[in-house]
Amino acid sequence: MSLTVLEHPLARHLVTLLRDRSTEPEAFREAARRLATLLVLEASIDLPLEERPVETPLETAVGHRIAAPLVAVAVLRAGLGLLDTVVDLLPGARVGYVGVQRDEETATPREYYTKLPELEGARVFVLEPMLATGGSLSWACHQVREAGGRDVTALCVVSAPEGAARMARDHPDVRIVSATHDRKLDANFYILPGLGDMGDRLFGTR
Ligand code: URA
Repeated sequence: MSLTVLEHPLARHLVTLLRDRSTEPEAFREAARRLATLLVLEASIDLPLEERPVETPLETAVGHRIAAPLVAVAVLRAGLGLLDTVVDLLPGARVGYVGVQRDEETATPREYYTKLPELEGARVFVLEPMLATGGSLSWACHQVREAGGRDVTALCVVSAPEGAARMARDHPDVRIVSATHDRKLDANFYILPGLGDMGDRLFGTR
């Protein structure tokens, strides 16, 4: 498992907006969308390319196109906060969903929905904004692997050491790109300092 944490000043600025308890859902969603751009740019930095000729108005030049099928898998429901940006930037991507609900007492994942596109040979981006215990992301990566996905990168807004350790144990081959890496989990398995419940912050629920 590799963990890359964004160092870009814009990432820090946007993470601060997301952390701020006074940020309302509309501004929260906007900040999450903008932050997703930085996450996608980092996560896709090594996408394979193949050459193709392109006719400019003046001559023929060497051009490129992305040479792998792309898949985004949103872990419901917080992953939806990143999905629009991912499909804007990677318009050819197919989209899957993994619905995992966190048991509030044990923080173990309970699956309620999975729908995945063809994953064979694809570059897969799993969107799981909050890597807390790692239970949901590990479960989502397990589903992806069972369905034939091999090349997996997880996009996280906030990660915690506990979740990173779990991923290193369960999925040593998965790359993680996180906007920030926080201190630890609290007794209720929330990330400290974190940003609260990402789904609630995105959608205005409690
Ligand atoms: N999920 C969240 O939305 N927030 C946390 O802090 C941990 C898990």
